[in-house]
Amino acid sequence: MSLAIWVCESDYDFDRVAAEWVAAHLEGPDPVLGLPTGGTPEGLYRELVRMHREEGLSFRSARTFNLDEYVGLAADHAQSYAHYMRERLFRHVDIDPSRTHIPNGLCEDPDEEARRYDALLREHGPIRAQVLGIGSNGHIGFNEPGTAFKTRTHTVQLTEETREANARFFESIDEVPRLAVTMGIANILESEAILLMAKGSSKQEALKRAFTDPPSIDVPASALQTHADVTVLVDREAAVGLAALLSQGPDGS
Ligand code: GLP
Repeated sequence: MSLAIWVCESDYDFDRVAAEWVAAHLEGPDPVLGLPTGGTPEGLYRELVRMHREEGLSFRSARTFNLDEYVGLAADHAQSYAHYMRERLFRHVDIDPSRTHIPNGLCEDPDEEARRYDALLREHGPIRAQVLGIGSNGHIGFNEPGTAFKTRTHTVQLTEETREANARFFESIDEVPRLAVTMGIANILESEAILLMAKGSSKQEALKRAFTDPPSIDVPASALQTHADVTVLVDREAAVGLAALLSQGPDGS
C-alpha cells in the first residue's frame, strides 16, 4: 500500500488542499476525474469554482464521472446527485455538459443503466483522479459493507444506516431512496490516483477500520489498501482514527 495522510488544521486548508490535488490532475490531455457528492466535498467544489473564476483554472478538456446516483430521482430533483453537481460545480465552470457523466436516476431498468455506465467508464477510462468521501459504515460511492472488491458498476440496496445518514438532506427519511446505481469497487481501484476526504469524529471508526485493520469486505474503503496511489485527507477530528499510522498524533503530540 502506498498511503499518504494529510491532516489539515482548518476547513479552509482542507478545501484548498483538495482543490489543488484536483487541479494538478487536470493538467495534461483529456483528464478524466471521478467525483463524489455528500457534505464533505462541498468546500472542494466552492474552491474549484473560485480557482476557475480568479485563477483561470479550466475544465474545458475534462471529462467527469460521478460515483453514484439515487434510483428514482430525476436530474432536476433537488436531492439528486445530478442536481448537486450542476449547482455546486458544473454550471459555474467551463466544462462541456456532454462530458459530465452521472448514472440516470430515472432509468427504467437500473441494472441495464449500471451496464451502460460501466461501458462508458471502460470507453473513456481509466479515471486519472478519483475523489472519494467515506460513509460512517466505511462505504465508498454507495458500495455498502459486504460488497466484493471485484464488483463493477451495479445497483445497490442502501442500508438503513446510510439512509439515516443521508436523511438530513431530505424532508424525512421516507423520502430517501432505497436503491442507487454506483460505480463498483473495481472501477474505483482502476483509477490512477485516489484522494479520500473525511471530516469529523463520525468518520474516525470507519477510517480506523479501513486503514489499520486488514482489508475486509465488511469495510469497503479497506479495498484502498490494495491501491498504489492513495492520499487520505482528514481534519484533526477524523485523523484520530488514523493515529496508529501517523508519526505525530493528530494533535501534534
Ligand atoms: C453518500 C455518498 C458517498 C459519500 C457519503 C459520505 O452516501 N454516496 O459517496 O462519501 O455519502 O457523505 P458525507 O460527506 O456527507 O459524510
